[in-house]
Amino acid sequence: MVIKDKVIKAINKQINAELYSSYLYLAMAAYFAADNWLGFAQWMKVQSREENAHAMKFYEYLLERGGRVTLSAIEAPAKEWKSALDVFEAVYAHELKVTGLINDLLKVAREENDTATESMLKWFIDEQVEEEANAVAIVEKLKVIKGFANGLLMLDHELGERK
Ligand code: FEO
Repeated sequence: MVIKDKVIKAINKQINAELYSSYLYLAMAAYFAADNWLGFAQWMKVQSREENAHAMKFYEYLLERGGRVTLSAIEAPAKEWKSALDVFEAVYAHELKVTGLINDLLKVAREENDTATESMLKWFIDEQVEEEANAVAIVEKLKVIKGFANGLLMLDHELGERK
């Protein structure tokens, strides 16, 4: 089935959103690195790479379906946050937004009777469950830590293990 223009447009929009996510998490990595929280920075760098991989998954899919990939400007992310908790709350809020975008994309695919796109999106729907859960788990830990150095150092060490 030839891919419809509406679906092509929606996937291109999602490629931009995933690249923005990658950019946002890279900005967060730089924020942590500037203060020598290298474990938090490592976690964010890995997250940034994952978002880039998400963008590429949509990119490859669109090409496979014979659609034209069109890249648009990526918005500049924030540079500063108030604390590690502030950062991870922003991560969680952002992931909720991305989940909403994936759901919007699913709606377009369904309206256009594009079952292949619907099937491809299943991976992203499952991935979002994981992404939201990961962010919430870290937010909860940071709430328990309440900004105390010992707890922050331990969590920094733990998150630095992410490959
Ligand atoms: Fe690509 Fe974190 O969603």
